[in-house]
Amino acid sequence: MSTLAQRISETQAFLASRRAERPGVALILGSGFAELAEAVDARCVLAYKDIPHFAATSVAGHAGRLLLGRWRGVEVAMFEGRSHFYEGLALQQVAYPSYIAKELGAQALIVTNAAGAINADYEPGDVMLVTDHINLIGDSPLRGPQDGGVGIRFPSMRNAYDPALLNAARRAAAACKVRLREGVYAAVAGPMYETEAELRMLQTLGADAVGMSTVPEVIAARHAGLRVLALSVISNRASPSPDATVASGIVADEAPAAHRGHDVDHEDVQATVKRSAHKARAVIEGVLDELAG
Ligand code: HPA
Repeated sequence: MSTLAQRISETQAFLASRRAERPGVALILGSGFAELAEAVDARCVLAYKDIPHFAATSVAGHAGRLLLGRWRGVEVAMFEGRSHFYEGLALQQVAYPSYIAKELGAQALIVTNAAGAINADYEPGDVMLVTDHINLIGDSPLRGPQDGGVGIRFPSMRNAYDPALLNAARRAAAACKVRLREGVYAAVAGPMYETEAELRMLQTLGADAVGMSTVPEVIAARHAGLRVLALSVISNRASPSPDATVASGIVADEAPAAHRGHDVDHEDVQATVKRSAHKARAVIEGVLDELAG
């Protein structure tokens, strides 16, 4: 089997033969963010299944295509749809777009996702700037041999979310009047949603939001030396039930509905993201304007 470095260079050669312009910014979109893809003046659109060494995504609502083109005067590579650990892939494969972004010449990576709100102040439809993360997937895209000089063995993850890009996002949100939350994103393996006990654990650990993506791509991007910005759209409440007896499950059926915790549904998650993606789009466009200017 070829090394990671060999695969990256084969993918890169294929993509370079399709479009010569080097992207300054790469984006990886979660499901429900099609509106962002529509904003791109795409000069070249490629299905993941046609790109060497790319994993086609199997999740409903994840498009699985790469758009190369321009957005707000910035040359971009947009990965519309991602793959996930829960699909059975190795994290190195999940994070592969980050390495390709770097190889194509991007300096920055912008990632979007849907996340459940552990923080009880957050509401569905809110946009959260990811200021830090907790990796609870139990694995890393960097596990395995150091093949072919991609990054270093023990990269730092301090300031993984670029301070200058965070500030640019804050300015952009203020300018377009989007209420921006800021918090810690915890990545879990999924695909099941959390138990009450897990939600209490996540709250204790200091997570504000929980999701099943993003962190593998961010780790690989930092490994490759990309600057990173990540935005979560809060798709559902995931704060633990305030009632301890309900939390323990003893009288859950008799508890008033409002205290019964919040059940999550993939369709609701997607619908909420779709309704609110325009806010993430406005913030990202402001950031791109700064990068272009
Ligand atoms: N938990 C985990 N992942 C998620 C959630 C959630 O509540 N919402 C969207 N992705």
